[in-house]
Amino acid sequence: FWKPSNIIKDIIKTVRAVVGRDRVVLAFSGGIDSCVTALLLKYAIGNNFVCVFVNNGLLCYDEIEKLSSFKKKYQYLNIVCLSEEKRFLSALVGVVDPEEKRKVVGRVFIEIFETYINSDKVKNIKWLVQGTVCSDVIESGISAVYNNSTPNVIKSHHNVGGLPDYLNIKLLEPIKTLFKDEVRKIGLRLGLPQDVVYKHPFPGPGMAVRILGEVKEEYCNILRQADQIFIEELRNRNLYTKINQAFAVFLPISSVGVQGDNRKYKWVIALRAVETIDFMTAKWVNLPYDFLDKVSNRIVNEIQDVSRVVYDISSKPPATIEWE
Ligand code: XMP
Repeated sequence: FWKPSNIIKDIIKTVRAVVGRDRVVLAFSGGIDSCVTALLLKYAIGNNFVCVFVNNGLLCYDEIEKLSSFKKKYQYLNIVCLSEEKRFLSALVGVVDPEEKRKVVGRVFIEIFETYINSDKVKNIKWLVQGTVCSDVIESGISAVYNNSTPNVIKSHHNVGGLPDYLNIKLLEPIKTLFKDEVRKIGLRLGLPQDVVYKHPFPGPGMAVRILGEVKEEYCNILRQADQIFIEELRNRNLYTKINQAFAVFLPISSVGVQGDNRKYKWVIALRAVETIDFMTAKWVNLPYDFLDKVSNRIVNEIQDVSRVVYDISSKPPATIEWE
């Protein structure tokens, strides 16, 4: 039957057999999926891999600080951080369609990995490893960013199922048969800290799919602040770990409000919180009104450019968890 220790042993054995002595790059995001994948790689192939974290400018508030402390604690995982914020933001100029945004972010990621793999910093990389999980595969309809012809694509997650041929590198997804709750059990078994294990998932395209329509640096900054307030208050109320995913969404519509004696005509922030086991279905969370009141007050008072906050009460299906 399903036991973390058996699954760990099986994955290590498979990775070792597949990769052999080849050198490997792991696309590392700092989330539970890539942390578990990194530790499994370590057990399977020792030091023969490097973890590459790309700062795409679409990350949450304190993501880089969290990464630095993780890096210090897990020095043996050999984590490298590439700062590529400008590159992603310029590639996203004028892109409004959600799937198109995913493709642009996925494409830029691949370009960055290609440059890194061919640089003098690393030699002879044969594999790109990703912490893809089962729901990513299902929702992508086993489509790749480079393959437009697959049916049932709900959202095409990064490079799931394939890499462009010109890259001359193989893709390995060691935990793609597991669901998030299973990955968490494995993470605990591998000794990962609770804050990593129970961190809410964050999509590969990051805030690009939490800003409706075109992504702008100004919107990213507003959303980052709103999200930080929401998450901070959830933690203060001990609600964060009781919820499976919570985040703020930026709505690029102006709404009238008042500030002092003046009229304020600014943006709208939506709050989303869901309960789910496998992320394939989800129920919106009935957060206490006084809690929502506090978060909303903080957001409109602390963020100049926001005049209104709304709460999303849609479950999945028919709504998806992310707004895009
Ligand atoms: P949806 O919005 O499809 O989300 O109900 C289900 C889970 O998947 C995450 N998600 C993504 N993760 N790349 C990712 O790596 C993506 O493009 C993507 N889209 C959604 C979402 O955050 C939720 O946990």
